[in-house]
Amino acid sequence: MPLVTSTEMFKKAYDGGYAVGAFNVNNMEIVQGITEAAREVNAPLILQVSKGARAYANHTYLVKLVEAATIECPNIPIVLHLDHGPDFETCKSCIDGGFTSVMIDASSKPFAENIEITKKVVEYAHDHGVVVEAELGTLAGVEDEVKVSAEDSSYTHPEEVEEFVTKTGCDSLAIAIGTSHGAYKFTAAQCTRNEQGILVPPPLRFDVLEEVSKRLPGFPIVLHGSSSVPQEYVKMINENGGKMPDAVGIPEEQLRKAATLSVCKINIDSDLRLAMTGTIRQFFSEHPDKFDPREYLKPARANIKELVKHKLINVLGCAGKA
Ligand code: G3H
Ligand code: 13P
Ligand code: ZN
Repeated sequence: MPLVTSTEMFKKAYDGGYAVGAFNVNNMEIVQGITEAAREVNAPLILQVSKGARAYANHTYLVKLVEAATIECPNIPIVLHLDHGPDFETCKSCIDGGFTSVMIDASSKPFAENIEITKKVVEYAHDHGVVVEAELGTLAGVEDEVKVSAEDSSYTHPEEVEEFVTKTGCDSLAIAIGTSHGAYKFTAAQCTRNEQGILVPPPLRFDVLEEVSKRLPGFPIVLHGSSSVPQEYVKMINENGGKMPDAVGIPEEQLRKAATLSVCKINIDSDLRLAMTGTIRQFFSEHPDKFDPREYLKPARANIKELVKHKLINVLGCAGKA
């Protein structure tokens, strides 16, 4: 089937108590790993492209790779989404260039300015049959090229959400409840340590999520920065020449809980990067003589597929929902 918008997907996810996985794509192997997993477990899918991905791989290559996935996986609905659109022009370029969904991220701007920019994108997008995700509140970590320190990050203020959604007309809303971008989501000082010495992050603010949901009944909420930073891959990286001390993510049980509530879209990127990098590092440790990219990208793609399957089944709960 052709690319779809997330409208129907989110309605089903909200009513069904699950979330759709939104995975970032940057090259063919990542697209293949994700879509093969979704095809195998019959899950709906959002493939998202950041400004950085467009700069790296080129808009046309990414659109065509995702279109290829729709041909290879004819029975699962796939959305092509712009992740963290920084301005109207970037959103317009994606709307004109085949995307079915865009995010305008004006969350770092003052409230009134965020409304103004988001509204402009929504008007253009809706005129072209494209849906819009907006953001209120700021996540810590790296948002594309914007680095936000933990101290600067602020949880979404629930009392602002109704006015924001009504005035902008956005189709979904990303909120800040304590998730964070990247593989180093929290400092050691923000965490406790378990018996294995692994950092345990502060719990997500479910009270904020519940308050937002009460004010926006039936409205799809999005969580960014939702990688769990699997310790098996951090270990694989560290045992094969890498150095990623204290990389820590969001516990999967908390994401599972969010998915049963109003959260309809959960963004995962760093976990895929860790799986790919860990696998390639290990491959080269074990095969220092090899130099054929197909030989090291094949196991990397296979591990991305396994990781995504696990997320779809056990974390998002969207397996069998295509
Ligand atoms: O939230 C950001 C995404 O993980 C995309 O990262 O800007 O490095 O492509 P990127
Ligand atoms: P992670 O860095 O936790 O994977 O978050 C990705 C994300 O939010 C993309 O927008
Ligand atoms: Zn994000």
